[in-house]
Amino acid sequence: MNGGILESEIRTLKKERNAIILAHYYQRPEIQDIADFVGDSLQLSQKAASTDAEVIVFCGVDFMAESAAILSPDKTVILPELKAGCPMARMVDAESLRQWKAEQPGAKVVCYVNSSAEVKAESDICCTSSNAKEVVESLAGADILFVPDQNLGRFVSERLGRSFDLWPGYCKTHDRLRVEDIQVARGLHPKAEILVHPECREEVWRLADYVGSTAGIIRFAQSSTNEEFIIGTESGILHELKKTCPGKTFYLASDKLVCPNMKATTLEKVRDALRDMSSRISVPEGIRVRAKQALDRMLVLK
Ligand code: 13P
Ligand code: SF4
Repeated sequence: MNGGILESEIRTLKKERNAIILAHYYQRPEIQDIADFVGDSLQLSQKAASTDAEVIVFCGVDFMAESAAILSPDKTVILPELKAGCPMARMVDAESLRQWKAEQPGAKVVCYVNSSAEVKAESDICCTSSNAKEVVESLAGADILFVPDQNLGRFVSERLGRSFDLWPGYCKTHDRLRVEDIQVARGLHPKAEILVHPECREEVWRLADYVGSTAGIIRFAQSSTNEEFIIGTESGILHELKKTCPGKTFYLASDKLVCPNMKATTLEKVRDALRDMSSRISVPEGIRVRAKQALDRMLVLK
């Protein structure tokens, strides 16, 4: 079946179900094109919290759909590919976090949204890569436990001149980008600006001209007077960059920058998800209410 027929099936089912399709910038191009809204983690959670649609089809990974279910419990949240998990989110669990907190009473837990609902429920406040600095600034004077991404934590800690306790988690996709990849790309494209995600290793983000979330990288490229860019984040972002910056040239810093979980969602799976209304994502109420507090504290800031 070709993409055109699938797309029209998806549009018909979407209307019948009163559904909205949300997609992350790392999704396949054809998924981004069929989506009603494409964004970074922060924009997607804001959209999930404010939509009027009865059904949210989340084209991303499981923690994103879980955040939507936490924020909008009256809506049906569907994840088209249940196996689309985030390895980083699995690097911290609620029990280990409780032990860590017990060792540092009084410290505030800042939790990257790339985490389970149970971990969010144990945290004081959530953050994404686009608001992590503002979130930590809102906790003036407090000792900070930052979970689970050590690279984002280290980046924010350096920018704010504050030291945090860092959980040793990391993104398996961004971790594959190494200094040598940047050096090779820079040798090939000496005029290009280097834009990377803060999930990259410290030695990599130190070489960049700009470090920011996916939405931040897109905004930077759009407003820069430069014409060439080396991109240090997941390959899916190239679709939006090329679409919104015609005339500019983008080079992926390494062909290893592909997140298999983000690529697991296909048009067929979106069609089947809308037809069968599965897999539904929900969070037990006791955990949901506590996790929502951590997300709400973030959302009132930005
Ligand atoms: P942002 O959407 O905040 O840029 O995060 C990237 C990411 O890794 C999502 O899985
Ligand atoms: Fe998780 Fe990294 Fe994939 Fe994002 S890119 S879903 S952080 S593994």
